[in-house]
Amino acid sequence: MHTPAVGTSDGDLRVMVLRGFDRDAMSMRFHTDARSAKVSAIREGPAISVLFYNPEAKVQIRTRGIAVVDQDGTEADAAWTDSTPFARRCYLSELPPGASTEEARSGLPDWVEGIVPSEAQLAPARKNFAVFTVRIHAIDWLYLANAGHRRARFEFSDGNVESRWLVP
Ligand SMILES: Cc1cc2nc3c(=O)[nH]c(=O)nc-3n(C[C@H](O)[C@H](O)[C@H](O)COP(=O)(O)O)c2cc1C
Repeated sequence: MHTPAVGTSDGDLRVMVLRGFDRDAMSMRFHTDARSAKVSAIREGPAISVLFYNPEAKVQIRTRGIAVVDQDGTEADAAWTDSTPFARRCYLSELPPGASTEEARSGLPDWVEGIVPSEAQLAPARKNFAVFTVRIHAIDWLYLANAGHRRARFEFSDGNVESRWLVP
């Protein structure tokens, strides 16, 4: 369940790597390009859904929450520092994600193709990097079983959780 589908309030969704989960805060952390469409969508309307499915466990988890983008704060700084140079390399792209190009290309400058850049070379990419945190408000859990599926809903507010069974 490392790569859920993340849905934004503009109706779009995309696969993302789940970078962190804080059980106490009930929050998830994602890394992205600050210039991407999803960041604009979150800034326009922060409601978000994150969908997980584990076929071996036969479990679907649908979460709903509110996303907060951090582009130049301490959270983004820490995530940037903790990321590998190879992961940070993507943010060297001169064009924003989704920009049109004449031919199929990565968007990265030619000098970085095929190399792992140095810290100094990566420094200008920091401004393109953002983190967003999703504070989970509700989880819908579904377990598929031949003997009868099971479904539960969890609602979180002010550090409390309310849970109940639902008909699948
Ligand atoms: C397996 C996988 C993992 C991905 N992880 C991320 C990620 O962590 N962050 C990210 O911004 N995009 C990630 N992407 C790319 C997004 O799915 C998406 O194509 C891109 O971010 C542009 O989305 P947007 O136009 O909605 O902003 C991943 C794609 C795949 C297939």
